Amino acid sequence: MNLSRRHVLVGAAAGALARPASVLAQEPRRRVLRIAHLTDVHVQPEKRAGEGMAAAFVHAQNQKERPDLILTGGDLVMDAFGATKERTKTQWDLWQRTLKDCLATPVEHCIGNHDVWNWPRDGGEPERGKRWAMDALSLEKPYRSFERAGWKFLVLDSTFPRGTGYVAKLDDEQFEWLSGELAATPKSTPVLVLSHIPILAACAYFDGDNEKDGDWKVPGAWMHIDARRIVKLFHKPGNVKVALSGHIHLLDRVDYLGTTYLCNGAVCGGWWGGNYQECEPGYAMVNLYADGTFDSEYVTYGWKAEG
Ligand SMILES: [Fe+2]
Repeated sequence: MNLSRRHVLVGAAAGALARPASVLAQEPRRRVLRIAHLTDVHVQPEKRAGEGMAAAFVHAQNQKERPDLILTGGDLVMDAFGATKERTKTQWDLWQRTLKDCLATPVEHCIGNHDVWNWPRDGGEPERGKRWAMDALSLEKPYRSFERAGWKFLVLDSTFPRGTGYVAKLDDEQFEWLSGELAATPKSTPVLVLSHIPILAACAYFDGDNEKDGDWKVPGAWMHIDARRIVKLFHKPGNVKVALSGHIHLLDRVDYLGTTYLCNGAVCGGWWGGNYQECEPGYAMVNLYADGTFDSEYVTYGWKAEG
C-alpha cells in the first residue's frame, strides 16, 4: 500500500514537471494586494472640493473588487505652501473631517509640495515646512518604508526648498536611506515606490509651454531633477517594479530600464474646475501580484465641476 501510494505521489510530481510551459504560462497570477492610488486631492472649502473628495474615496472603496489599501499621493490640501496659518488650518481640518467620514480602508500617505506650509516666509513657527502635514497625517517621518503582502513599499519625500519655491529631488540623507533600503531588500522581493512628484514622466513635457524657446525644458519642480541617479539606483537590483506619482494632474506610463513609472492624474482634475487638459478627475486602481507583476487602471468617478 505504501509502495503504491509512493508510486502515485511520484507519478503526480512527474506529471507536474512534465506539463508543457504553455500550460504553466496560462495559470492565473495570484493577486496579493489591490491598491487605490488617490493623488492631488487639493481639498478646499471652495468648488465643492470636500464633496468631491468624499465622492472619490467612496467610489474607490465601493469598487466591485474593493481595495485592500489606499495610497494618497500628496497635494492633499489645495495649498498650504503660500497660505496663512488660518487658511492652512481650514484646509487640513476639512481634509481630516472628510477622511474620517468616508475612510474604511487602511491608508498610507505621501506629502506633496502644496502640503508644505509657509516656506516662502520664515516666521519661526514650529509647524513650518513639513511638520504640519506630518502631524495632520500622523507621520513620524516624511519618507519611510513598509512591507505588505510580500511587496516592499518605499514612500519618498520629493519636495525641497529652492529660493522662495521648491525643487523635486531627494536630499543626500534620503538618497542614502533609499540606497540602504534597496540594498537590504532581497532581489526576490518586488518593490513599489510612491512619490508625489514624478521621478520620470512623459506628461511633464506637456505641462506648460516647455518648448517655447525652441528646446524642450522640463522644470526641476515638475519632475525629479535627480532622476538620473534614482533611475540608475533602481536599475541595479532590478526589483523596483513600479513607481507611482501625481503632481502633474496628467496621466502617463513610462517604462524605462525595468521600472514602470505611472503618473496617475488627479482626484481634483484641473483643481476642481473640470478636466486638466485631456485628463479627467480620477484615481488609479493598481493590482499587485505574487510573482512581482502588476497592472493599473485609471478610474474616473463622474465628478462634474460647478457650472
Ligand atoms: Fe497638485
